[in-house]
Amino acid sequence: MTETTSLSTPLLSVEDLSASYDESLILRGISMEVPRDSVVALLGRNGVGKTTLLRSIMGLLPQAQGSINFDGAAIENLRADQRVRLGMGYVPQGRDIFPNLTVEENLKVSLSISGAAGAERLDQVYELFPVLKDMLARKGGVLSGGQQQQLAIGRALLTNPRLLILDEPTEGIQPSIIDQIEDAIHTLKHEGDLSIILVEQYLDFAKAASDTFYILERGAVVQSGASESLSTGLIEQYLTV
Ligand SMILES: Nc1ncnc2c1ncn2[C@@H]1O[C@H](COP(=O)(O)OP(=O)(O)O)[C@@H](O)[C@H]1O
Ligand SMILES: [Mg+2]
Repeated sequence: MTETTSLSTPLLSVEDLSASYDESLILRGISMEVPRDSVVALLGRNGVGKTTLLRSIMGLLPQAQGSINFDGAAIENLRADQRVRLGMGYVPQGRDIFPNLTVEENLKVSLSISGAAGAERLDQVYELFPVLKDMLARKGGVLSGGQQQQLAIGRALLTNPRLLILDEPTEGIQPSIIDQIEDAIHTLKHEGDLSIILVEQYLDFAKAASDTFYILERGAVVQSGASESLSTGLIEQYLTV
């Protein structure tokens, strides 16, 4: 059977993905889809495998098995940097920036990957996170946690992604900056030609920002559907501590 890429093909589809750390199996046969121009919330308590799933999707986990299609092409055998070049932008959990490089240098590292297409996004990054423009000459490591998170998201955007993967972007960040990050996600969502996978503990925001959701438990998908159907019952069963 030949498959042609059409607009109805999901941007990303994961089928029967399993992954382990050392001897222990962490992901058990996960299947999920990210439609085009949509936001998918990936939910579940601590330790259920959300970060492991994102790392597997990005090709950062050697012991992963299963199929991953991006824009109609099989990518499970590609390296992480090749996936980035295809249009997958990843903002890992925590503050993944270069602390000893300036804000400007941090951003330039991404531009070296994407070239002109990414450069066109630079203005957008400054619009979303104006503080970065004021701090171009500062070392990344002296920014506040929230500013570092904004820098990390900015860097991912400058690779000109069609899929942006955000792992707990508001974790441990002061409320005023959480608002800015949430606004940025809303803006990106409405801009088109970009899908987002969002791991987020703030369920009200995750529900409002996403179109569909997946809930993980012990490395498997236990619930999924339209985000508007994410009920208090499901939240109590799978998400409250
Ligand atoms: N580098 C690692 N080595 C071994 N086990 C790990 C590693 N990272 C995570 N784990 C384990 O994998 C499971 C899933 O972790 P993780 O994907 O980080 O969950 P989540 O992001 O949902 O909190 C946990 O049991 C965790 O202890
Ligand atoms: Mg995690």
